[in-house]
Order: sequence, then C-alpha cells, then structure tokens
Amino acid sequence: MVLEQPQVAQKNDKTTNMKVTKICCIGAGYVGGPTMAVIAQKCPDIEVTVVDLNAERIAAWNDKDINNIPIYEPGLGEIVGEARGRNLFFSTEVEKAIHEAQLIFISVNTPTKTYGSGKGMAADLKYIELCARQIARIAKDDKIVVEKSTLPVRTAEAIKSILNHTGNGVQFQILSNPEFLAEGTAVQDLLHPDRVLIGGETCEEGQKAIQTLVDIYAHWVPREKILTTNVWSSELSKLTANAFLAQRVSSINAISELCEKTGANVNEVARAIGMDSRIGPKFLKASVGFGGSCFQKDILNLVYICKSFGLVEVADYWEQVIIMNDHQKRRFGNNIVSTLYNTVADKKIAFLGWAFKKDTNDTRESAAIYIADDLVNEQANIAVYDPKVDADQVYADLDYLKTRNVEKNRKKVTVFEDPYETCHHAHAIAIMTEWDEFAAYDWQRIYDNMQKPAFVFDGRNLLDEAKLREIGFIYQSIGS
Ligand code: UDX
Ligand code: ADP
Repeated sequence: MVLEQPQVAQKNDKTTNMKVTKICCIGAGYVGGPTMAVIAQKCPDIEVTVVDLNAERIAAWNDKDINNIPIYEPGLGEIVGEARGRNLFFSTEVEKAIHEAQLIFISVNTPTKTYGSGKGMAADLKYIELCARQIARIAKDDKIVVEKSTLPVRTAEAIKSILNHTGNGVQFQILSNPEFLAEGTAVQDLLHPDRVLIGGETCEEGQKAIQTLVDIYAHWVPREKILTTNVWSSELSKLTANAFLAQRVSSINAISELCEKTGANVNEVARAIGMDSRIGPKFLKASVGFGGSCFQKDILNLVYICKSFGLVEVADYWEQVIIMNDHQKRRFGNNIVSTLYNTVADKKIAFLGWAFKKDTNDTRESAAIYIADDLVNEQANIAVYDPKVDADQVYADLDYLKTRNVEKNRKKVTVFEDPYETCHHAHAIAIMTEWDEFAAYDWQRIYDNMQKPAFVFDGRNLLDEAKLREIGFIYQSIGS
C-alpha cells in the first residue's frame, strides 16, 4: 500500500504552467471579498475581479467611502483601498469575468439544506452547481476552477462532472483550496496563514494546475507552508479542522457547567490544561456557545457524510459537539430566567453584542439570536446594542427563525445605537459578544441607571468581576 503524504510545494522551474493574468472570484462574501483583496494586493500583475449576483453588495464594495464596504474586518479597508481600481474590481458582470479569467474561484455560500433529503444536515450545493453550469456555458478556453467555499467532501468531483459533460469541449482542472481564515482576524490570517492547502488531481494536468495556484500564493506565503494533497484529503481537512476547533469549544463549555456545580473556575482550568504543550492554550475560552457560518454547518455535514457511509458511531460522536453547543446556549438563557426570580415577563434584558464574535459584523448562527428568541418566548423585552450590527440585521435574524410574526419581534426587541441607552432601566445585562469596548464602559454609570438588583450575565467572561461586584452588580460568568 502506498501511503500518501501532503507534499510541501517546491519551487517551480518549469514554464509549462498556465500563465495567469486574470482571476475571477464568484461570490463577494466573507470569504471571497477578503481573500481576493489580499491576492490583488500581493499580486499586482494579476487582475482580480470579484463578481456577485447581489448588486447591492457589489455597490457597497465599490463605495467611495472605504468604511462602507459590506464586511467589517480590521485592516480590510486599507487593503481594498490600495488595490481597488488598480487590479481589484468588484462587478455584477459575472459572465464577462468568467469568460476572461484563466483561474476562477468559486466562493459562494453553501448553507445547510432546509428541504428534502439531508434537510438540516447536508450542505446545499445548489449555488455551487449553478456556478459550475454557468462556467461550463461560458468558458471558451481552458480554465482552472478552484473551490473555495466550505464544501463537503467530493464536491470537486461534482463540479468536474458538470464541467466536463456540459462544457464547450474546453479543458477544466478542478482544485480544492479551502479557506482557513477566521472572521475578525481574516486579514492577518490571509497575510500570515498557518498553511495554504491545495488539493488537485494526481495526473500531469492536475499537477500543473496545482503548481499554477501554488505560484500565486508563493507571492507572499513561504513555500514550506503551502501543502498539496489529493482533492479529497483537501476537502476533508477543512471539515476536520473546523470539527476539531468546535470540539474544543464544546469540551471547555461542558467543563464550564461542571465548574459551576463544583466550585472550580473554568478560566483556571483552561489555563492549567492549556499549559500542557500537547493541549495548547488556544480555543479554550468558555462561552455562551460557538456561532458563525462554519462550525455547525461543517459538523452537520461531517455527520451527514458519516451516516451516509453507515458510520453511526462516528456520526454520533461528532453530533455531540453540536448537542453540547445547543445545550450551552439554552442553559445560558434558562439561567437568566431562573436567576431573575423565575420570570422575565416584561423585564428589560439588555444584550451587549449580537455578532457571533468580536471584530466582525457577521451574525450567522450567533448564540445571541437563539438566546434572544428563548427569552422573548418568556415574554422578556430585549434591548440590543452591537457596535457593528444594525437593526435590520437583528430583525432579519429573528424573523428567519419564524418563531413568531415579524410585528411581535419588533415589539419585543429594540435595537439601540448607544450602549448606555441600551442598559437604561434594564433588569439585567447579558454580554453576548466579546467586543473590547464593553470592558471599557463606565460600569458605575450603567449600574446607577439600572433596576435593582442589577444583574450581569457575562457570556464571554469579559468583564472585571471584582470591580463589578464592588459597584454592586450581581455578576455571573460562565463556569465559576
Ligand atoms: C472558523 C475557523 O476558525 C476558521 O479556520 C474557518 O475558516 C472558518 O470557521 P470563524 O467561525 O470565523 O472561523 O471564527 P472562530 O474564531 O473559529 O470562532 C467560532 C466561534 O467559536 C465564535 O462564536 C467564537 O466566539 C467561538 N469560540 C472560539 C469560543 O466560544 N471559544 C473559543 O475559545 C474560541
Ligand atoms: P461566505 O461566508 O462563504 O463568503 P457569503 O454568504 O458571505 O458566504 O457570500 C457568498 C456570496 O455568494 C453572496 O454574496 C451571494 O450573493 C453570492 N452568490 C451565490 N451564488 C452566486 C452565483 N451563482 N453567482 C454569483 N454570486 C453568487
């Protein structure tokens, strides 16, 4: 048996690779936008066009005021400002960009299916399939197609099948190049990646395509950090990385509940175990539960794939990571209700934070959405403040759950632009996102304007517990 190992990219001396002068990226979202901005910045000789069907989103990317680009990411505005109009373009002309490019990234969304077979688990590949069909229809010359979205294993095969059976007879090479950036640190993650992973076919043409993409990343990423594998390993590595990361959060969150019962402190436990170099200190922050567009979706996908191969125990093992996360969110809300004397009916609960983590305006799968929903079911009035999330997004998130009608959501949930107003006359404050600015607020002023007793439920263990208690707050954190 031949054991395959990921290969470290080598310097390419051959001249047979495809010469890339134009790149097209389909999908101007949280992955496509920042990734292409960095490629454009680092490869000034390549023209990069990011296309999207959503005209409003493209208009925002083209907004003269760099503060209005649709994604909030520290450092992104500067990079877009530098490259846009030079060799970085945002456009709705999808067909033109596909036609002109030698290299096409597919970076469209792959949400969890909400219908039919695999509902609630499998990734919905309809957007990917539409892209593949569009590329097949338009391409008149050979292209390399790179799957960049988070995708279930074997998607490249599906793309390949569509391209080869419906194309105009041109040659396509399909690569898997999963993105490992985390939101909020996307620019740094792209500039200094732990690794870049490129999966392709083992045939000569496949290897040439891999080398073409390696050469692009090699503009700024050391070659020893660029790994090449077969397509399936690359796709599965992405799911596995996210599953492992999410598993760490669920593991520490599970321990947080035990800490609350035993008198241990989860921060101390995390510190103690994190100093074991085999465990490491990162991703051990107990929280109100993980959110974001990837973790849940990818694990559900992994579970679905395992089940489809009859691997029941493996599927159950990973599913538990999600079950634990749902439990963590629910118990945070339940604790607010029970601590507030078993009723929150018509009480004002102030939410500081709505995004799924700090330094992003992304709210997908944010714990805040589900906890707000549970508390509104308990008749609470929710006041929300997030430095980067606006009212329309908050209501869109709640309406999407379809728990109640849209009028009721607007009646029970109010979104503020000022944190002090948000907390004014509140019975309790819940810290949902770990925005740095929350810790720097004038907590005495907040306390003075709240109902008494004044409660703080710190879902991120962010605030200075001793200081808050001294002011007079009844303060509860996670895992102590
Ligand atoms: C994740 C992966 O980290 C990234 O590599 C992949 O490309 C996409 O998915 P992202 O979802 O953007 O990135 O953010 P991440 O930093 O991983 O956080 C995910 C969630 O876990 C957030 O809600 C965060 O608050 C939570 N989290 C993270 C914790 O609760 N505790 C931790 O210790 C770490
Ligand atoms: P991600 O976090 O994976 O980047 P987003 O939802 O932020 O996901 O972005 C995906 C983008 O892809 C959206 O802006 C959506 O409009 C776009 N998109 C989806 N399908 C297509 C398509 N067939 N052609 C062009 N853009 C598309």
